This record gives sequence, C-alpha cells and structure tokens, in this order.
Amino acid sequence: MNPQPDQNVLVVDFGAQYSQLIARRIRECQVYCEIVPCDTPVAELVARRPAGIVLSGGPPSVYEEGAPSIDPAIYDQNIPVLGICYGMQLMARQLGGEVVPGGQQREYGKTDLHVARDRAADALFWGVGSELVSWMSHGDRVDAPPPGFLTLGSTDNTPVAAMGNPERRLYGVQFHPEVTHTQGGTRVLRNFLTEVCKCDTTWTMENYLQQAVEDIRRQVGDARVICGLSGGVDSAVAAALVHRAIGDQLTCIFVNHGLLRQGEPEAVRETFEGHFHVPLVYVDAEERFLQALAGVSDPERKRKIIGQEFIRVFEEEARKVGDAEFLVQGTLYPDVIESGPGKAATIKTHHNVGGLPEDMKLRLVEPLRWLFKDEVRALGEQLGLPEEMVWRHPFPGPGLAVRILGEVTHEKLEILRHADHILMEELRRAGLYRQLSQAFAVLPNDRTVGVMGDQRTYAYFVVFRAVTTEDFMTADWARIPHDVLERMSNRVVNEVAGVNRLVYDLTSKPPGTIEWE
Ligand code: XMP
Repeated sequence: MNPQPDQNVLVVDFGAQYSQLIARRIRECQVYCEIVPCDTPVAELVARRPAGIVLSGGPPSVYEEGAPSIDPAIYDQNIPVLGICYGMQLMARQLGGEVVPGGQQREYGKTDLHVARDRAADALFWGVGSELVSWMSHGDRVDAPPPGFLTLGSTDNTPVAAMGNPERRLYGVQFHPEVTHTQGGTRVLRNFLTEVCKCDTTWTMENYLQQAVEDIRRQVGDARVICGLSGGVDSAVAAALVHRAIGDQLTCIFVNHGLLRQGEPEAVRETFEGHFHVPLVYVDAEERFLQALAGVSDPERKRKIIGQEFIRVFEEEARKVGDAEFLVQGTLYPDVIESGPGKAATIKTHHNVGGLPEDMKLRLVEPLRWLFKDEVRALGEQLGLPEEMVWRHPFPGPGLAVRILGEVTHEKLEILRHADHILMEELRRAGLYRQLSQAFAVLPNDRTVGVMGDQRTYAYFVVFRAVTTEDFMTADWARIPHDVLERMSNRVVNEVAGVNRLVYDLTSKPPGTIEWE
C-alpha cells in the first residue's frame, strides 16, 4: 500500500538522522514522501513516479573513503532534485562543479545566507527575503557550481551556498532547511515542492483517515481482529482507527501490568469502553507482574521479565477471543525505517506492547506504518480521542519499572505515581507540558537526610527529568523556569509521604539516556 502514489516525493537517505527530519518537514507541507536508501537503483526510483527527489545530508565529505553516492543518471530523468548539504555537494561534484575539501575548516551553526536576486532565486527563495539566518554544518564547500547552474546564495565563507539549474529543475542548498533554526527553512522546502515539483498539498490526516478506513476494510473483510492497548498514543490511535473502519469486529485487550501512571488504566477504559464502545478485555495483572519482578534489581532483567510476562498474558487472553485472524499493531514509520539490518548496538532492549504471538498465525494490520508521531497525534485528534491521550508523552513499555531503580514494590510504585502526578500537574498548569518531548519522575533506591519541622527525616528522594528532542536519539534537558521547579519541589516534598527531596536531572543525551534505566 502506498498512501498517495501520484504525490510521492522520495528522500534519498545518506544519513538517517537528517532524512527523517527532512521527511517530516515535507509532510508538514502536506506532501507525501518516503525515505529510500541511497543505493536504490535509479530505475526503481523512476518507477515510483516521484514528483520530486530530495538528496539528504550525510557524512562530512564527498571525498571520504566509502562516502555514499547515487547513480548520476538520476539527474537526467526530468524529475526535480533538491540536494541538501551533503546532497548538494554530491550533486555539484557529479555534475562538474568545484567542491573543495574542507579539511579541519568547518562552517558550523548559525550563518547568514545572502540570497542572489535573480529569476531562479525567486522559485526556491520566494517569500524568504534576501538575507536569512541558516543552519550550517559542513566541511567541504562548493566554490563553483556545475555548468548550467546559477549561484543562488552565498555566505561569507562559502561562495556557493545555494545553486540551481531551473531548466533541468535541479537545485542544491548547503544549509539545512529542515532544522527549525533555519529561518524560512520550511518555506524553502515548500517552494521546492509546490513551485518546482508542482505538488498538490493534499497530504492531510483527514484524507488519510478516509483512505485508511477503506484499506483496513479491504484488508480484513469480515474477519475478527484483536488489538493490544498500552495506554500510549500509538496503540490508542491504531485501535480507534481500526474501530472506525470495522466496528465490533475489533476486540481490544488491555493488560494492566500495574506499572502505569496514575489514572491511566481508568482513562483507557473510559475512552474505549465508555466513549467508543469498543469490546474491551481488561486484564488486571498487577500482582502477577509484581510477583515476577520480586527481588529483581537489574534493569535488563526487569525488561526481559516484563516483556515475556506480557506476551504470555496477552497470548492467553487473545486465545480466549478465539477466532481472531488479525492483530493490530501501532508500528510507526520511524520503526519501519530503523528496523533495517545492521542498526546500532543495543543500549536498552526495547519491549513493545502487543508483540505477535508467533504460533497464533495472526496476520498484522499496521495502519500507522506510514506515519510519523506528529501525524499520529493529528490523526488521533481527527478520530476524537481525548486531548490528554493524544498529547501524552511517550511512555516505555516496561512502564514505571524502569523508573524505579532497584526492586519494584507496591510502596515505591505508590510514591512514584503520586510524585509523577504532581509534576505533570504543575507542568500543565504552567503551560509547559506540550512544549516538552518527555517529562517524568524517577525514584532512586536511596534515602537522604532532611529536616521537617523539628524532626530529622530519612526518606526517599525523587528525580525530575524533562527533555526536549526531535527524534529521541539525542535530547537536551529542558530549561524549566525556577518558579515552576520551586512549586514542584514544595508540593512533592509536602504531599508525597516518604519523600523529603526533589532533584532535577541536568544531563543531555548523550551521555545520559532519557530513562534512568
Ligand atoms: P532512552 O532511555 O533509550 O529512551 O534514551 C528513548 C525513548 O525510548 C523510550 N524507551 C522505551 N520504550 N520500551 C519502550 O517501548 C522500552 O524498554 C524503552 N526504554 C526507553 C523512552 O521512554 C524514550 O522515549
């Protein structure tokens, strides 16, 4: 299934981190795009009839040994191409421009781009002004554009920072239009899509919803379908979407492993049973999970136990539903891209809720596998899911078990839930919750000394973690205003029994990870 074959823009991937962000920005311009590996044969790219092609950023130099490349025949297909950073240098080099190796000299960070005022500049830079603050990160530099190309922009250090051949509809920009620090970057991308590629801007979640409903009906016919709910955004949106398509043919299974945040199980039941009237199997498995976790402190062992136990319970319940032929999974597009072979070393074994019980021979329905997270949220809003659920921060499959350091007990779960609830309440009250990518409380396994009234206390301390990130691969700690931190600290220490201190985690990722375990 390709959601919109006629409006397909392809992002050729020379370095995964860049290409995902580019793809997200293109989708924000309401044009459908997909990411393809750079060794995809040109004939295959052309066969997909793309309206345009974007060459992503990548390694620092086209002269590096083993630097990725693309068959230059791509420039002769009468398909518009935009090269970004590395993509532009590669285009310049392949088409006979002059690319000078940068060596140690790099242009990095915010840089003023002077846009050349001529006919071609109007197509790509229309509406962005003659000077723009752009985000650069490159070693090599283009000193002369290929024959037939105009220089569209320069910086103080880079003679050719943007170039174009309007007749052949080939363009290149040295800066990164996809990063938010580039002023007017989205406009430059949109200009390429609408002015150069002549794309329609029809990629909206409203349109996607209609098509997905038809596709799901076609795929499952009148078979029975099951779906595991986790309390998170992805499974909730997938379930609501499938329910919109096939109604009561869908049964949802919600295994409450007892490691959820305050109010979460109730919210899931209320939404799916109460509001959408979805047949829901609710399994209260808290004791079972806590027993399995008793005495276990090692984070990876906790993850494994929860993962295995989860599959077991889910499988038992799924069998009871009986005649299901399909299983819904909330797989997202980044999972599809990243699950390719040879990816980075395992730092944490991620356990995903609703893993497929292999011998059940269930076929998969994955209606979100073309969507980024922002799109899933927009789709959730279209489907009428409550705002609280749609905008919820990501939550790890093993839940609070990886936010309680050491053994997981009832007492610690209660402390952590209460503290976390207060922190989230204060973030929402300050209007900060949606600006943050993820925020939560952690409960270390230690106690500290304090004084309350005239009494010495010896109690747990709670850690507050809040980060901003584009992709969860790297993250920065959030600059929370001091008055908000002050209110959080007062409330946690005063209201949560057994806690006498709140600390704030000032570690970015890397070197820290987002979760503490
Ligand atoms: P880290 O801690 O690796 O987290 O920086 C990156 C993102 O992944 C989430 N995370 C998990 N999600 N199962 C999940 O489904 C897991 O075991 C798991 N561990 C971390 C984390 O919350 C963050 O959003």
